[in-house]
Amino acid sequence: MAYIKNIWYVAAWADEISDNKLLARKLLDVPVFFFRDTGGNPVALLDRCPHRFAPLSMGIIRGNCIECSYHGLRFDSAGKCVHNPHGDGRIPVRATVPSFPVVERYSAIWLWLGNPEEADPALIPEFDFMEPEQNFVGTGTMHVKGNYLLEVDNILDLSHIEFVHPMFSSPAVSKAQVTHELVDDTVWSRRDIMEDETPPDFIRQAMNVPEGPVDRWLHVHWQAPSYMALFAGGVAAGQPFEHGMVSKQAHWFTPETGQTTHYFYAVTQPRSIGPHGADIVNQGVEVLKAPFQYEDAPIIEAQQSRLGETDLMDLYPIILNVDAASTAARKIIAKKIQSEKSRAV
Ligand code: FES
Repeated sequence: MAYIKNIWYVAAWADEISDNKLLARKLLDVPVFFFRDTGGNPVALLDRCPHRFAPLSMGIIRGNCIECSYHGLRFDSAGKCVHNPHGDGRIPVRATVPSFPVVERYSAIWLWLGNPEEADPALIPEFDFMEPEQNFVGTGTMHVKGNYLLEVDNILDLSHIEFVHPMFSSPAVSKAQVTHELVDDTVWSRRDIMEDETPPDFIRQAMNVPEGPVDRWLHVHWQAPSYMALFAGGVAAGQPFEHGMVSKQAHWFTPETGQTTHYFYAVTQPRSIGPHGADIVNQGVEVLKAPFQYEDAPIIEAQQSRLGETDLMDLYPIILNVDAASTAARKIIAKKIQSEKSRAV
């Protein structure tokens, strides 16, 4: 499958890699493993020893190095072989492992699989509400047997909540005003529910909305390839949105393969609300887990089983008005992939 290569992808939550704890993960069809050097900095190397191709993630961390568990070659954090326990100890010229640029930001490990010379950390998308110094951040992960763009469709078109997540919904949702907007190769999808809805308690707590009838909104901002910020807000019916409360979530999808995805999601609250914000975000992550796992994932995985290895758009799906944002996002991705291909020629 074709991916945008010269772009940052989220590979893991930062706490998935700790001292002496390796993480092996396939990303964009590439087996990669991560560990921290003695300074605590994340390291990403191809998960394949250049000798007999054993996964290096089965090895042992030795200081700033990884020792292959099969014949003991040792590689440093740049992927250079620094120790050969055999014969005269000479190190073969080709004894290197590709290393990849990584950055730790927003409680996540960001990986660059494209041209390393273009790996500018300034290109990591901005998620100010994910800054842990100013915000409580609760995180979750999920593995989905579906293409990452099916997940992008799912978040950019929240009309599905009426049918897939009755717990998030009410009859007012289908009457929402829906708009989308393109801004500099990013897409906004806005769903404003203005029917004096009295949401279920669950929604009230999860979205931090007031008692009584409310107006609420679900605004999603997408950036390539698959980074979404979801602003779920509510306000006493008839009041301006600026007077309301907003729950800010991150939904990030990284392809594992063309048909499987690593889903990273986060619920946040500003630290200014007080220490109970930590409980709110952790509860938020717990609450979202069940609908993601038992309601979204089954439908996306079933979609994928119908698609097989064929891209959705190659089958000419019918397009509804609710598909405008996801169709725009898919076009931007296709354009970026095409641009990379043209540059490579
Ligand atoms: Fe790694 Fe032989 S396979 S040292």
